[in-house]
Amino acid sequence: MATEEEILARMKPGCLCTGIKLHRIIKAIEDGATTFEQIARITGIGTGSCSGKRCRQKVAAILQEKGLA
Ligand code: FES
Repeated sequence: MATEEEILARMKPGCLCTGIKLHRIIKAIEDGATTFEQIARITGIGTGSCSGKRCRQKVAAILQEKGLA
């Protein structure tokens, strides 16, 4: 059964421009991605109209929270 945090991550946006959800970013990190570029390649984030200006900051915060940045 999914935790409340996992359920919320499935609903929350990770990249507003592309509509890619937060849980895809978290899964990419759990699978070994440690940079925005790696996560972007795996998930497709950063390809929207802002060119990653917004989602790059979100990814940086997640990586820092996990001790990867
Ligand atoms: S929020 Fe990700 S490309 Fe704009």
